[in-house]
Amino acid sequence: MEWGMKNRLSRLIQADGKALFLPIDHGYFQGPTHKLEKPGETIKPIVQYADAIMLTRGVLRNCVNPAIPKPVILRVSGGTSVVGEDLANEAITTSIQEIIRLNASAVSMSVFIGSKYEHQSLTNLANLVDVCEDYGIPVMAVTAVGRELEKRTARYLALCCRIAAELGARVVKTYYCEENFEKVVEGCPVPVVIAGGPKTETQREVFDFVYDGMQKGAIGVNLGRNIWQTEHPVAAIRAIRAIIHDNYTPEEAQSLFEQVKAGKA
Ligand code: R5P
Repeated sequence: MEWGMKNRLSRLIQADGKALFLPIDHGYFQGPTHKLEKPGETIKPIVQYADAIMLTRGVLRNCVNPAIPKPVILRVSGGTSVVGEDLANEAITTSIQEIIRLNASAVSMSVFIGSKYEHQSLTNLANLVDVCEDYGIPVMAVTAVGRELEKRTARYLALCCRIAAELGARVVKTYYCEENFEKVVEGCPVPVVIAGGPKTETQREVFDFVYDGMQKGAIGVNLGRNIWQTEHPVAAIRAIRAIIHDNYTPEEAQSLFEQVKAGKA
């Protein structure tokens, strides 16, 4: 692997082999998502606990201080919206010149396997990998399901992760599933990070699935709403960080969450 690629990956995946990515890219198809109306404000108290932020060029340029000490994963696919016909009909929306100009440590894009636009999103991935590899920039593939959340079974996610890795993704972001998640990770020859999905009823559910996913081989998370849409984002991200980097159990994470919430840690 080239020095530049290694250097960028080492900024994202920490020395312990683990990673906590904080995505705030939801507006690229959802508009001003709840609690992300002002993304720059949303991340202020929590970004210090993340290993990287994931976002689009528009939010990066307009809402984030260029002196931010965190690496950037630039979301470079889009072109659809929640009120449009099909979320899977994405294109690559950002040029390689812009990716370099914005000093991205990685780029991310969605693939929609099993959808009408499967071929388009997979060839988008392959082409993006070709362009980015020339400059030592890793591509993180996002295995997206659009509105069809019920698709998130181990069999389907394993298929998606493997295909994304085969096409050249350096990291794959996928959903967690309760049954056989280890098969998803085992079948994927590149590191897997878990997306959070819609906000859960309780914070403990997040600690449980992050912990279980890590035990089953994920290297970390790319988790947004279950941090910044919660009542206590700092407590949430600190507890999740402790699971990822300090091997906390869900019980220990819950206890840290309560302490931070109460201003005792
Ligand atoms: C989708 O809008 C984005 O790709 C998000 O980055 C991804 O879904 C992870 O965020 P969350 O944990 O909120 O699902």
